[in-house]
Amino acid sequence: MCGIIGYAGLEEAAPILLDGLERLEYRGYDSAGVAIFTKGGSLLRVRAAGRLTNLHARVLEQLKAGADLHGEVGIGHTRWATHGEPTEENAHPHRSANGKYMVVHNGIIENHAALRKRLQEDGVVFASQTDTEVIAQLLESNDTGDALETMRRTLPQLEGSYAAAILYNQTPDTIYCVRRQSPLLIAMNETGVFLASDSAALLPHSRQIYRLEDGETAMLKAAQTRFYDGAGTEIAKTAIEIARHVTTADRGGYQHFMRKEIDEQPLAVHRTIAPLLHQGTVDLGEAEAVLRNFEDINRVLFLGCGSAYHVGMAGRVVVEEMTGIPAGAELASEFRGFAASIDPRTLVIIVSQSGETADTLMALRLANERGARTLSIVNVEGSSIASESGSVIYTKAGLEVAVATTKAYSTQLAVVYAVAARLAALRGCEQYRLRPFIHALHTLPERLDETLQSTQASAIAWAEEIHEREHAYFIGRNLDYVGAMEGALKLKEISYLHAEAYAAGELKHGTISLIEQGTPVVAVCLRRETAAKTASNVEEVFARGARVFCIAAKPEAKAQTIVIHPTHPLLVTSLAVIPAQLLAYHTAFLRKCDIDKPRSLAKSVTVE
Ligand code: M6R
Repeated sequence: MCGIIGYAGLEEAAPILLDGLERLEYRGYDSAGVAIFTKGGSLLRVRAAGRLTNLHARVLEQLKAGADLHGEVGIGHTRWATHGEPTEENAHPHRSANGKYMVVHNGIIENHAALRKRLQEDGVVFASQTDTEVIAQLLESNDTGDALETMRRTLPQLEGSYAAAILYNQTPDTIYCVRRQSPLLIAMNETGVFLASDSAALLPHSRQIYRLEDGETAMLKAAQTRFYDGAGTEIAKTAIEIARHVTTADRGGYQHFMRKEIDEQPLAVHRTIAPLLHQGTVDLGEAEAVLRNFEDINRVLFLGCGSAYHVGMAGRVVVEEMTGIPAGAELASEFRGFAASIDPRTLVIIVSQSGETADTLMALRLANERGARTLSIVNVEGSSIASESGSVIYTKAGLEVAVATTKAYSTQLAVVYAVAARLAALRGCEQYRLRPFIHALHTLPERLDETLQSTQASAIAWAEEIHEREHAYFIGRNLDYVGAMEGALKLKEISYLHAEAYAAGELKHGTISLIEQGTPVVAVCLRRETAAKTASNVEEVFARGARVFCIAAKPEAKAQTIVIHPTHPLLVTSLAVIPAQLLAYHTAFLRKCDIDKPRSLAKSVTVE
């Protein structure tokens, strides 16, 4: 959510900043801007509302008009609006009234209103509605002539979360930065020093990444970077090496990243599970550490948000059925109210593609505080969640660019199955149950591939039928309910068609009153233990005029059916999502939506 980039070095900053913003744009795209210390000695800012292409156009305009954009130190930002509309005035960088400080910021300053009021009473005139401008104005009002000292005085006055990069007009060779709860990373190479909110923007320059921890600040110059702890004492930091290169953001001939990423799922799942499967057994590698004294674990709890929560919902069913250990799933954003029962005997499994989702990170911290064993399933190496978890298993989805998750979701599910199999083996699960489960996991990539091939045409036909409707319902039971939830989320987030998922048995308890002639209802009936009951619910909605679409193991009389060859009953969630993703994609396509960058969303949600 929002992207920060910065550079201080020997090369022209503007192209480096614009390239970095391009790599970060999928995290927020309401507006963008850069600020550069020019060779002519001024601090120049260019901003534009809307997509990054608008900023590119604005930079070109400025150059044509003779602006001096040449300089080797600068910062940039791409915004996901929280405070204030996505206008140019609200775009970062934000400048203090007398132009001494320029700030880009991720996160939320929770006491911004009180600070703004106080500053206004002191005569400060604000130019934007953002919480970020408060930081710039406060820095200027506390200015001591030494930016680091000014930061030390100012930061304790800020409540909330922030990662910020700051330029001070008295030190045109320096970027100052600070982190509290929102991620900020630093990398160096022979040309200079780079900072970014996300490793995707740093990896083209270096694989050695320094993570700022909460409360730390840094001072970045071409030839020298200094790190300080919260008390202002200089500290030494060690870089972490990011082992694998993030896949490049290349559409590879596809019209949209999402469609490409849907097709990448079999390979991504294969890459993820292959290192965990060994001749019919599962070995979690370094993450085995979390299972030490396994017999003490008396509960497994999955935490995540959005699609990652859906993965946890599936995990809850699979773990409990395979191991008999009580398992649960909670929305990480709601976890504060549920943490009381967590203790050292709880295995908390955190699911997050980005590894930076603020709600999930806070839930992880609560679980750590309560002494739980924590294992995270994360796609981004070196991310905050990966770093703060007891153990981590990386999904190998590669860079996922489309905001709607597809391949990351599928790889997360695959890791959850592997963890369930490992826990089951430790619990002494009988081989006649374990072997077919691990075999099904082994062949999952092929099953995904078959499902992709066989469901595409029907998904397009379904999209033709529903794309002009206003509402759709998804129903299913147990693991199929998870498939319904993910299907509904995919459809609404990219096509803006209102879609809701219901546990199929719950419809008759209220929601069925919304079913009328022609209402689209997508029923997921893959799990054989519950399919017959869901089929009855299909009859009920059909009787009330619904247009029913079924994702099922055999054709349904009252519905258009996408037939999917059954896999292991505990792995059906992985197959159900394929036609649901394709339906969402083609519906959004027909509705002419911006599929990869749906309105109001961001890839990484780093505010609570
Ligand atoms: O990066 P995370 O996996 O922690 O993100 C969690 C959710 O924000 C994410 O799954 C979101 O729901 C997606 N847009 C769904 O497609």
